[in-house]
Amino acid sequence: MGLWSTKSISLLQQEAAAEGQHTLKRALGALNLTTLGIGAIIGAGIFVLTGTAAAQHAGPAVVYSFILAGFGCLFAGLCYAEFAAMIPIAGSAYTYGYATLGELVAWIIGWDLILEYLFGAATVAVGWSGYFAAFISELGQKFGFAGLPLAYAQAPFDVVGTHNLVRSTLCIDPATNQAISLAAGQVCDTSRYILTHGVINIPAMILIGLMSTLLVIGIRESARFNNWIVFIKLAIVFLVIGFGFMFVNSANWHPFVPPNTTGEFGQYGWTGIVRAAGVVFFAYIGFDAVSTAAQEAKNPQRDMPIGILSSLGICTVLYILMALVMTGLAPYKELDVPHPVFVAIDKAGPALHWLTYFINIGAIAGLASVVLVMLMGQPRIFFSMSRDGLLPAVFGKVHPRFQTPYVTTIVTGVVAAVVAGFFPIGLLGELVSIGTLLAFVIVCFGVMVLRYKRPNIPRPFRTPLVPVVPILGILICGYMMYGLPRDTWTRLVVWMAIGLLIYFAYGKKHSRIREQQDPMTAAAAD
Ligand code: ALA
Repeated sequence: MGLWSTKSISLLQQEAAAEGQHTLKRALGALNLTTLGIGAIIGAGIFVLTGTAAAQHAGPAVVYSFILAGFGCLFAGLCYAEFAAMIPIAGSAYTYGYATLGELVAWIIGWDLILEYLFGAATVAVGWSGYFAAFISELGQKFGFAGLPLAYAQAPFDVVGTHNLVRSTLCIDPATNQAISLAAGQVCDTSRYILTHGVINIPAMILIGLMSTLLVIGIRESARFNNWIVFIKLAIVFLVIGFGFMFVNSANWHPFVPPNTTGEFGQYGWTGIVRAAGVVFFAYIGFDAVSTAAQEAKNPQRDMPIGILSSLGICTVLYILMALVMTGLAPYKELDVPHPVFVAIDKAGPALHWLTYFINIGAIAGLASVVLVMLMGQPRIFFSMSRDGLLPAVFGKVHPRFQTPYVTTIVTGVVAAVVAGFFPIGLLGELVSIGTLLAFVIVCFGVMVLRYKRPNIPRPFRTPLVPVVPILGILICGYMMYGLPRDTWTRLVVWMAIGLLIYFAYGKKHSRIREQQDPMTAAAAD
């Protein structure tokens, strides 16, 4: 019975309303929450993955892929908004799971969210390190100094082969069993771990260290820093869209949906659009991070839905426009590079050369804020899990002066830095996508369950058209999960098995909720 006991909504609402030195500081308004969302959303997805998705799967119709993935996220976002306004607790989907589906499912979501936030921060930090190393070497060539030693900006191993997310530039030649370089557009269909010339990715680790330090110092300081970066990256995205449109060669948009000539799923045509949606989904991850700041929002009932939905809406529109500009400037096959925005603008010729410098700055600053907000989300989930007894009590400590969950912030930072230092981006990115999609599916399901079980709880924001919206959210997100490679599914299952072992060894024995109330009294209390 204990495994399925739910946490009562009234208890959650009491916790959300608590004030004092041991609680988080309420410092964020609607604008800050929206910029936090944009800070987490715009990053490696648009700056890196759009090119892969267009070149390998969808052509200019990657625009439709952005619309499809955007709908999946919108439906999930509407469900998040209902929960976040009703139960404004830092645990996000973990807490929503506890309120609706019981402790075991809550633990599963909490454990799953580590894939989104902690691994997400590590993934984007590795992407950032790639951009940063390239930028330093460009400067080095210009001003005559050596770039970063690449062995110290790269993981010691890589997974080559069928990456759905980040295109591997290497493949194993079946004839010689050696790693060979792939030409643009060439696809590798064997999957193998290989050793690289790398030792450790130090720039990625340093970035995580810096962002974690800022997060320990304060939520207000972190939000302010994030606001500046969001301002810079939005300005650059607007410049790319505005100036890019002037130089579009509309011949590049024909045919808009390149035909599928091989009959293989995902190779252009309509199936290519679906496959590319699975790739560019990564670009949307992050709007839900807003919900982890619920206990730091001044007026969460009103501002959580605004923060979640407006950051998602703004980014969706910008992504569609960016995808149109990029595929209009360059033939889509030429975008299969790690820096497709740069390549697209470069195509416009000397008139836009000045903009290429800003694109590097936009990517470097933009990716840093994604890392910041992901590293903000994770500790707050650990914090909630610890307050419920599922993790050790020390994880629930709040810094007496800074009023931040400093223990979990430091733990998250150290683990994320180690992951970023030693793991390649392709492997990490797919884990992030599958983990996030799973959380979205469960949140959509949770909204329906709670509407059925507790129809009369006051809901400051109501997801429209229930159950149509959550069901569509489940279907679209479930379909995108289905499109991810089998290896990624295996890693998800292994990750979840580890989580279950920890739950039965620790969490189940220490859970406070069952000490406080059994399900019958919980239901009565509501
Ligand atoms: N949406 C984030 C990015 O694209 C994770 O970097």
